[in-house]
Amino acid sequence: MTSHDTVANGAGTAPAGAMMPGFGNHFSTEAIPGALPIGQNSPQRTPFGLFAEQLSGTAFTAPRTENRRAWLYRLRPSANHPPFERYAGAPHLQSSPFDAANASPNRMRWNPLPLPEAATDFVDGMVTYGGTGDVATGDGVAIHLYAANRSMADRVFMNADGELLIVPEVGGLRIVTEMGVLIVEPLQIALVPRGLRFRVELCEPTARGYVLENYGAAFRLPDLGPIGSNGLANPRDFETPSAAFEDRDVSTELIQKFQGGLWATQLDYSPLDVVAWHGNLAPCAYDLRRFNTINTVSFDHPDPSIFTVLTSPSHTSGTANSDFVIFPPRWMVAEHTFRPPWFHRNVMSEFMGLIHGSYDAKADGFAPGGASLHNQMNGHGPDRATYEKAIVDDLTPHRISDTMAFMFETRLVIRPSRFAVETPLVHLDYDDCWAGFVKPEAFR
Ligand SMILES: [Fe+2]
Repeated sequence: MTSHDTVANGAGTAPAGAMMPGFGNHFSTEAIPGALPIGQNSPQRTPFGLFAEQLSGTAFTAPRTENRRAWLYRLRPSANHPPFERYAGAPHLQSSPFDAANASPNRMRWNPLPLPEAATDFVDGMVTYGGTGDVATGDGVAIHLYAANRSMADRVFMNADGELLIVPEVGGLRIVTEMGVLIVEPLQIALVPRGLRFRVELCEPTARGYVLENYGAAFRLPDLGPIGSNGLANPRDFETPSAAFEDRDVSTELIQKFQGGLWATQLDYSPLDVVAWHGNLAPCAYDLRRFNTINTVSFDHPDPSIFTVLTSPSHTSGTANSDFVIFPPRWMVAEHTFRPPWFHRNVMSEFMGLIHGSYDAKADGFAPGGASLHNQMNGHGPDRATYEKAIVDDLTPHRISDTMAFMFETRLVIRPSRFAVETPLVHLDYDDCWAGFVKPEAFR
């Protein structure tokens, strides 16, 4: 049994640089020199006799600008497994259709998800808060939190239903994938493509965070329009791992999420056995602190789309299946302006989480590890305390330093799970933060 951890996440050894997969960024990486075939994908005899296998993230015929695939050179083909049977774990991990609870116009907010007491890994520790769309048609998202206190050991997960955007809030994660290792800590994110097998190990005794399961088109960087060729999340800051593989002949449980259900099969080897790969479909990591925040330098609070990190487009132009938006530390300099987020009602639905610090639209009640949901067309915005402070604040330049909130946004209504509705974590008095606004004095 040997281990070949030639891992290089952020270590500068990713052979093709550090850029987001897709859109012509093509990587080539080999854990053993000479393992990658030269000049063709599937020669009759590959170097070292490795099995050549293509992983397609888009249809073969997707336009070149959309097409994502990778060629993997591995110890055994991924087809080498017994039948899957239903998996009984992960009791709170749910999938579409989200019809267990009524879709509600009510604004919702939750206290932080408690860390588990029983031994719980990343897969079993996922708790679905809601979702929308349909895994069968490749539309919509599911929104989960995870809380874990042990690493996955001799267990590997893959999700055929969608890619996973993982947003740690407590504890770092070592995500060991077929294509290499990502190490992400709070304030960093990981993006794992649909269908890629991986194991999550904890860097600390406990871990908690958020997961967006994207049933739709793969996440990509948003267009920048008049912003120009730089800004927001810059492509060079997305880190893609070098090839790393395990040559371990040990009993390994492979858990798969497929059409909403969880399935498991048993292997007698680690399937994380890709010695070399090339292509533009790959996992990646990104440090949210590298986000180049752009904001007003004159007046008014811009639409929060200015803070979009990643977007999954729908078939309707400019109307995302999902956006991942952050609210990072930033200077507030707007003149004669109400500086916090304004009151609004939105055709898009908004699920928010908090990774660090506090959020500038709420005086209290929204804690790291907590969450809120403001569904399509339902009014929200600053709470009363924040409003009353903001309309009399001195408008000197002010830095919001201690914060990292984010939003999973979708064009569809987010239907809460039964857990989300029934958990004692839910704030039954959330509406009260907008109670007590009185009409202007001139109208009394
Ligand atoms: Fe909003």
